[in-house]
Amino acid sequence: MSELCKGRTALVTGAGRGIGAAIAGRLAAEGATVAVNDIDQEAAERTAGEVGGLAVAANVADHDKASGVVDRVEKELGGLDILVNNAGIGYRGPLAEHTPKIWNRVLAVNLSAPFFLAQRAAPLLARNEGAVVNLCSVAMMGISGQVAYDVSKGGLATLTRSLAVELGRAGVRANAVCPGFIDTPMLEQAKDLVEIGARHVRTQPIRRLGTPEEVAAAVSWLASTEASYITGQCLFVDGGWVRS
Ligand SMILES: NC(=O)c1ccc[n+]([C@@H]2O[C@H](COP(=O)([O-])OP(=O)(O)OC[C@H]3O[C@@H](n4cnc5c(N)ncnc54)[C@H](O)[C@@H]3O)[C@@H](O)[C@H]2O)c1
Repeated sequence: MSELCKGRTALVTGAGRGIGAAIAGRLAAEGATVAVNDIDQEAAERTAGEVGGLAVAANVADHDKASGVVDRVEKELGGLDILVNNAGIGYRGPLAEHTPKIWNRVLAVNLSAPFFLAQRAAPLLARNEGAVVNLCSVAMMGISGQVAYDVSKGGLATLTRSLAVELGRAGVRANAVCPGFIDTPMLEQAKDLVEIGARHVRTQPIRRLGTPEEVAAAVSWLASTEASYITGQCLFVDGGWVRS
């Protein structure tokens, strides 16, 4: 590895498995000290052990707990340079079956948590030209049967652009990575999503699912100073499904 993130301190949410675990591993391999968050304490500790990082288990959809995660990172690691908002949940079901509870839960994890964390972390990120990377999704374009998820990722793309504008003056960059269909437990848990994924994969330029490591490579690059003139962008890591 090239040690693109040498000397930097990073927090990755939802890093107990899947894409988040790959991001934590990649940032550590690039030289960063990594704080590993997950709602599942055992999973957070497992990834933290693998990457030699600090486990900070908490439900980041809870405002006070999200603030507490950043408090701990500041206290135990001395600051924060890279915030990766990766924790996310899906829900598959038609419009009529989206109860208020489901809607609120998906929006809380996928959109409110990144807002709470960015708000609390902003003064720390501003100390040393820090970076935020948000995990959006091709779903922000709209996929049938997951309106809350799609809206949460569209909102997160807008949050990314708002953060880029507001924090840019303080030298902080904010970008998003939008994965396509990536082979993780999230995908495996939704049977019809696997079928939709297989259909899309057959028509996209790169005809296979992506890997968590391919997403992690894009995240670590955007978080590094190699991307120092890039902010407010959504980078699609999707085998060419979305084309500009
Ligand atoms: N897998 C895909 O195909 C795909 C595609 C596009 C976008 N994404 C996005 O990438 C991110 C990671 O996806 P994944 O496939 O690795 O998911 P995953 O379900 O495999 O892992 C998500 C992790 O987040 C944790 N988590 C959930 N709620 C949390 C909370 N409130 N606080 C802290 N941790 C919490 C879970 O415990 C889990 O370890 C998500 O934001 C997802 O929406 C995934």
